[in-house]
Amino acid sequence: MSKSALPAAVGGGDSLEVEVADAAAVQLIHKAVNDLFGKDELRPRIWSAAFREVLKPLIRLVPLARVGASPGFSGAHVFVCYLMDPDRNLRPSRALVVKVGDAKKIKKEYDNALELGISGDAHFATPIIDIMQCDSGDLAVLIAPFSSQKGWGDAGDHTLQVVDLWSIIDGTANRRLAHWAKQNKDHAPPPLDLCSNLKKAYTARDDLTKHIKPPRKSLDIVDLYCGYQRGLIPFKEGDGEKNEDAVAFFGTGEYIDAYSKRWVNPVHVAELLIDHLPNVTVSLGKVHGDLHPHNIVLNQLGEVSLIDFGWARADDHLIKDFVLMEANLRFMTLSPYVPEAELLALAEHLSPDDKAPTLANANANEHYEAIAFLWDKAKQTASVEEWDFEYLLPLFMVSYGLFKYLDTARNQTSAILTLLCLSKRIKPLLLSLISKGAS
Ligand SMILES: Nc1ncnc2c1ncn2[C@@H]1O[C@H](COP(=O)(O)OP(=O)(O)O)[C@@H](O)[C@H]1O
Ligand SMILES: [Mg+2]
Repeated sequence: MSKSALPAAVGGGDSLEVEVADAAAVQLIHKAVNDLFGKDELRPRIWSAAFREVLKPLIRLVPLARVGASPGFSGAHVFVCYLMDPDRNLRPSRALVVKVGDAKKIKKEYDNALELGISGDAHFATPIIDIMQCDSGDLAVLIAPFSSQKGWGDAGDHTLQVVDLWSIIDGTANRRLAHWAKQNKDHAPPPLDLCSNLKKAYTARDDLTKHIKPPRKSLDIVDLYCGYQRGLIPFKEGDGEKNEDAVAFFGTGEYIDAYSKRWVNPVHVAELLIDHLPNVTVSLGKVHGDLHPHNIVLNQLGEVSLIDFGWARADDHLIKDFVLMEANLRFMTLSPYVPEAELLALAEHLSPDDKAPTLANANANEHYEAIAFLWDKAKQTASVEEWDFEYLLPLFMVSYGLFKYLDTARNQTSAILTLLCLSKRIKPLLLSLISKGAS
């Protein structure tokens, strides 16, 4: 079917059903989906049941919350989208994900994904449409395959659910897969534990670096992590916010007393970093840049896709893809029911050379094993030579930035203890770097 023979109603006036979106976004999505459906090479893969007689196709946009996903932090509006033909009772199209938002950010995400050179790879849900812009030019849209659904088959309609690494950790993945499991009794459900799925995600990530020995360079480590500190840099320039959440929580003194001990204040360590901007020799390569449990999704067979390329870079510190995940595990996903002594043992465990903690709590132990796996993988991927400088300094900076979201952490005590233990460990490191720089 040529483009001109497209069913006109795909772009027709009343062919879009939507519950939440502003008018400009709706108009843009309408145009983008229409455009996509007009591509000869994609049309059959998007909607296998549809052919030219489809008279009144309807584009249905489903808000993320309906498929059990939580909104991302980028401010973009994300929908699941599919085409259907209510009059002819056709099976709906396969599900797509539509991300609409600030044109600059969306365009950057598209370019980032291209720069990584991974489009078409099954492990990455990369954008499949060129950037579309609204007339006003301030909105753009990306469309990608919905990756919690196997293959380019038909959309599961109302039964669609996002299964991500987060839902595996919080135990809701089972419920999300229940409908599919009922319909497909012959297929064993995929393993739903943290470690095996984390391993799958990082095996997928390996495709970015393909075991190439990364080049090493001495760089300003604060600058490298600027985007992850959420306010630390303007603090230096005095023209913006500090990490006010950390300052309000810890105060600005050099030490603080908490959990019956005296600790180095993380705010003091952040100030040392900003005042001295130390250089560290690091390994560079392709990074996803935002690898956390909501950006790793799974389909019903347990196959993993990495999504969300807003922070991807072709030449960046490889360790970013490890410390962000570790900080998320320590702050965001650890169960709130771990005893305090075990939280402290886990927080003090910061390098592969530290003695392994004894953890009776199953969730804490699972998190410990996941972190041990990350360390191992990080060492191989980034050829780490000096663990404390190359890994712990970044882990501190990312954790310090993540403190902004303390309210959403499942285990706030773990978040606080992690930052305190990191500060204690990092201060002497920094002082040694600073005195080396001064001499
Ligand atoms: N290709 C996809 N397959 C399945 N779910 C997706 C896909 N893209 C996005 N989502 C869901 O939408 C959420 C937000 O999308 P994302 O691209 O991560 O936006 P943000 O940049 O705001 O974090 C994700 O966390 C995930 O639940
Ligand atoms: Mg995201």
